[in-house]
Amino acid sequence: MSPLASSTSGSDSEMVERVMGVEPSRKKQRKAFAAVVEPDAGKKTVLVTGGAGFIGSHTAQALLSRGDSVVVLDNFNDYYDPSIKRGNVELLEQMAEGAEGSLVIVDGSITDSALVGKVFQENSITHVCHLAARAGVRPSIEDPLLYVETNITGTTILLEMARLHKVRNFVYASSSSVYGGSKSAFFSEDEDVSNPVSQYAASKKTCELLAHTYSHLYNLPTTGLRFFTVFGERGRPDMAPLMFINKISKGEGIRQFGDGSSSRDYTYVSDIVDGVVRSLDRAYKNEVFNLGKGSGTSLIDFIGTVEKYTGKKANKTILPDQPGDVPYTCASTDKAKALLGYSAEVAFDEGIRRTVAWYNEKEGLESGELVRGGGGMARKEKEGEVKRVVSGENLTACA
Ligand SMILES: NC(=O)c1ccc[n+]([C@@H]2O[C@H](COP(=O)([O-])OP(=O)(O)OC[C@H]3O[C@@H](n4cnc5c(N)ncnc54)[C@H](O)[C@@H]3O)[C@@H](O)[C@H]2O)c1
Repeated sequence: MSPLASSTSGSDSEMVERVMGVEPSRKKQRKAFAAVVEPDAGKKTVLVTGGAGFIGSHTAQALLSRGDSVVVLDNFNDYYDPSIKRGNVELLEQMAEGAEGSLVIVDGSITDSALVGKVFQENSITHVCHLAARAGVRPSIEDPLLYVETNITGTTILLEMARLHKVRNFVYASSSSVYGGSKSAFFSEDEDVSNPVSQYAASKKTCELLAHTYSHLYNLPTTGLRFFTVFGERGRPDMAPLMFINKISKGEGIRQFGDGSSSRDYTYVSDIVDGVVRSLDRAYKNEVFNLGKGSGTSLIDFIGTVEKYTGKKANKTILPDQPGDVPYTCASTDKAKALLGYSAEVAFDEGIRRTVAWYNEKEGLESGELVRGGGGMARKEKEGEVKRVVSGENLTACA
């Protein structure tokens, strides 16, 4: 257990503010955190599980860009279109050409213990960044066994291999979903999260318990990161930010669950990647950190911002709240600030602006108006003639 002090329990006034869709006022908290671990700046060989996915590919990109070697282990499953994941890996491959570190891509499952053992054996892994998972709350309610197999068995196999191969740090993705049963206004890491409201949340809480056990029994340094709704370029198509950008851009209808007052702490992907890399560099014995922006955006404001940048009016159907959904998420980032030096830099509005710009380029590419060239985008002028029109900015925003 980390030596944290006071917990943040929800007061009645906070609940009232929340129900009214108002961001609750932050309470003054006095906390005692663990001693700060200084960063290890040495070159690393990082196993990035789920490295073909959204956060994983951005993280792999950031590690490659600073000279680390990366081994991606991903099974390219069809939770969403696998060609998106193949595209993410192509970008990594382009980036690895001429990079100081190496890139290895392994197409396989974290639940295949023989394969995972071989990956550790053959690549001299020094650090693990475990992001592979079945993600998504609603599908976990429909197919719980799949979530248990991937998220719990898979994580146990990785922890076991990490201890056998004496890796220097094991960083893994948890989720803000673990706060599902919480009544607090600002979710803080030291509150009791033993009441998960979906199988997904339960699987992530279980990962935190397993990490604690491996740290306790074998001194394996472990850090769990509770991500708060991540969005940005190459985002997950099943999540609201990209789904809304896509549908509103195309004039298709969107489904708004609830009255629009529900609020989330949406975090831009480059901020998340910064927190992941900071965690990899600091081998805490056993910690859990919130990685969020630290402020909420209501669904109504969210849709309004997407309308602003797409230049289109949303065509909404309003439906009741979904089971398992959390009405309000907002991270207390005090601990990540104190121990990792983490601070989210990208405002929600700016994050949506960048994501819509990337989306418009992607749509241009898919319609044949643009072609990909040299890691950036290029406009197809006429057959055989390609002119670069976009720097890598939107593609490498996380680096
Ligand atoms: N995106 C968010 O807002 C968010 C919020 C909280 C937590 N998380 C967690 O962050 C991590 C990354 O999420 P993401 O949004 O990038 O999702 P993602 O689905 O884009 O990435 C996950 C990757 O893991 C891979 N994967 C799944 N099962 C696998 C298996 N058995 N073996 C190997 N690879 C497998 C998938 O193919 C995918 O590429 C996940 O652990 C997720 O639970 C994400």
